[in-house]
Amino acid sequence: MADQSAEFVVVANRLPVDLEKLPDGTQRWKRSPGGLVTALEPMLRSREGAWVGWPGLADAEAEPFVEDGLTLHPVMLTSKDVEDYYEGFSNGTLWPLYHDVVAPPAFHRHWWQAYVRVNKRFAEAVAEVAAPDATVWIQDYQLQLLPAELRALRPDLRIGFFLHIPFPPTELYQQLPWRKEIVEGLLGADLVGFHTPGGVRNFRWLATRFTDAKPGARNEVTYEGRTVKLGAFPISIDSAHLDELSRSPEVQQRAKEIRNDLGNPERVILGVDRLDYTKGIDVRLRAFEELLEEDRAGDTVMIQLATPSRERVEHYQTMRAGIEQSVGRINGTFARVGHPVLHYLHQSLPRDELAAFFVAADVMLVTPLRDGMNLVAKEYVACRSDLGGVLVLSEFAGAAIELKDSVLVNPHDTDGVKNALHRALTMPADESRKRMKALRRQVMAYDVDRWARSFLDALGLPS
Ligand code: ADP
Ligand code: F6P
Repeated sequence: MADQSAEFVVVANRLPVDLEKLPDGTQRWKRSPGGLVTALEPMLRSREGAWVGWPGLADAEAEPFVEDGLTLHPVMLTSKDVEDYYEGFSNGTLWPLYHDVVAPPAFHRHWWQAYVRVNKRFAEAVAEVAAPDATVWIQDYQLQLLPAELRALRPDLRIGFFLHIPFPPTELYQQLPWRKEIVEGLLGADLVGFHTPGGVRNFRWLATRFTDAKPGARNEVTYEGRTVKLGAFPISIDSAHLDELSRSPEVQQRAKEIRNDLGNPERVILGVDRLDYTKGIDVRLRAFEELLEEDRAGDTVMIQLATPSRERVEHYQTMRAGIEQSVGRINGTFARVGHPVLHYLHQSLPRDELAAFFVAADVMLVTPLRDGMNLVAKEYVACRSDLGGVLVLSEFAGAAIELKDSVLVNPHDTDGVKNALHRALTMPADESRKRMKALRRQVMAYDVDRWARSFLDALGLPS
């Protein structure tokens, strides 16, 4: 049993590193996918805290270990837990429901039971490592029951919860058969954070409608004799670090090589995503294909980088097949020997390589149908100290609230996306520089450290 010594604990479904089994039977740790890790890892390393999470592999029993000043506490998930709690309730029910039902959510009672069971397991694991009166910061939709479960075990703790994905409109949320239980779970926290004020409003309404919570002061409810604070905290990135990385001679040189490898086209379009059906990858491929058909794309090459994600979940398999078919069709029609018009890499790239792609790209296409924030949009801006490049951004990404100087698009409007892409490809340099300058003012000032500090200040944790 671990000693209760950690003063500051982050809990997320995943650890910041995943355990990977190699073909020769040995194991190694590698960086976990997704925006949550990108955002939290630098902040937590500087605080020397503890991180409780799943090592990303079913049935893997791993001992706690210290990495770079951060103590990692693995929570074990069996293959049944992975199937029912992670792939099932988290990613087959909550993920589509919270992303405006862009794919139909499935409601299964045995998935729900697994969600309850695993959230309880996380509560026990955190209760074992947190020091008396410690601060615990719980992350994301996979652990919405954890605030209340943990409070029941350890009422001494100060508990914050942050939701990294959108909180849905109330009408959609009400479809959930376990809507009351989840709201009650979240009300176990002292502070519940969302990306946007809309999330705060929706949650506040649901809390007072489905539980005994009473409206308190603005952005507060009272529940079981406690005040639960609610707030909007738009997440960000380690802007200064990425800015510095992108300016390095190695990254600048690599960006030139990438353009060279592409055959030095006049324009390069880039998409970077986890391969997820919410990201609207199909939308941007369709827009690019139509521009090619209409002979309006000019001398342009597109690159789509897609990190493999949730590969056993059905919606993801269907979407991947559709995208790979489109890539084949587009190249089949428009490529010449040795010169594809579209490069598709179903791979996760190292950070410096990714920065080089951002530097190399004239147009960054970020077209999610719904996204809590979308860090990729901010990463692109942080990498453009040269004020080059145009960001095309979906209105349905949380980032659109802050990045107003991007070219905003409605991803449901194919003509609109196509025309915005054409506008970005042909934008006069003085306009694109002005826009990028304004975007950079936002992204460089509001970084992940500021996000974390504002959340932790609201939670009452002295910095
Ligand atoms: P989400 O949290 O839904 O995955 P975000 O855009 O907020 O979406 O964060 C995605 C993170 O994953 C970003 O930090 C991005 O740089 C990283 N990422 C996405 N695709 C790749 C890739 N192909 N290789 C490496 N990192 C990637
Ligand atoms: O931010 C959304 C999120 O689901 C995180 O919770 C998660 O770590 C990341 O995307 C990647 O997803 P997954 O852990 O399912 O691979």
